Amino acid sequence: MIDTADAASVETAAAEVKSRFPQTNVLITVAGIMMPENVLTADFLATAENTVHTNLLGPIRLIAAFSEFLAGQVDATIMTVSSGLAFVPLPFTPTYNATKAAIHSFTQSLRVQLAGTSVQVIELVPPAVRTALMGQEESATAMPLEDFLAEVMTILQTQPDNDEILVENVKFLRYAEARGTHNQVLEHLSGH
Ligand SMILES: NC(=O)c1ccc[n+]([C@@H]2O[C@H](COP(=O)([O-])OP(=O)(O)OC[C@H]3O[C@@H](n4cnc5c(N)ncnc54)[C@H](OP(=O)(O)O)[C@@H]3O)[C@@H](O)[C@H]2O)c1
Repeated sequence: MIDTADAASVETAAAEVKSRFPQTNVLITVAGIMMPENVLTADFLATAENTVHTNLLGPIRLIAAFSEFLAGQVDATIMTVSSGLAFVPLPFTPTYNATKAAIHSFTQSLRVQLAGTSVQVIELVPPAVRTALMGQEESATAMPLEDFLAEVMTILQTQPDNDEILVENVKFLRYAEARGTHNQVLEHLSGH
């Protein structure tokens, strides 16, 4: 078990992985939480802090613990997990969106810093997918998990050098700014 929001837990788990599985060559920083956030309520700050610890500091700590180790492997991959909401925010979850935007930015720098090493850096950018996140297992507006996984695996197999894994459903978010539709998409996500 690892609690990625806890620095000591990450250190302990990383040390165990390196000693028990020294050929490990893939790190996927997938753990994340997404909670409703209302800036006018008393519990907002605690939720926001938990979100930053898990979604931003967690991946950063994991990458700090593993990057030198992975760079020592013949061939390795670090996959970060951002979100389409990194590119247009869902106003209902401001800190969540902000952590994912930060992960996108961090991943770009990480890719440049590791360019001369054996480590490929890939950013998975999911759209809404039917998982336990925000209790959207049955959500009609979220993508079925099996469809998402199948599309991701096809992209990984057919375009293994892509920096970002973008299924079709996420492109309206990922490319909103470039397409000039950012404000319309933001209005839509605002429930207007
Ligand atoms: N589903 C979507 O619509 C969607 C869209 C965009 C991005 N994403 C991202 O995709 C990633 C995976 O989410 P998901 O959809 O699979 O959600 P999920 O079904 O809620 O799974 C989240 C996973 O993260 C783990 N986790 C949470 N906090 C942790 C911590 N402090 N330490 C260790 N593990 C922790 C959970 O473990 P426990 O079950 O043990 O708590 C669970 O396995 C997240 O980074 C999420 O932000 C998801």
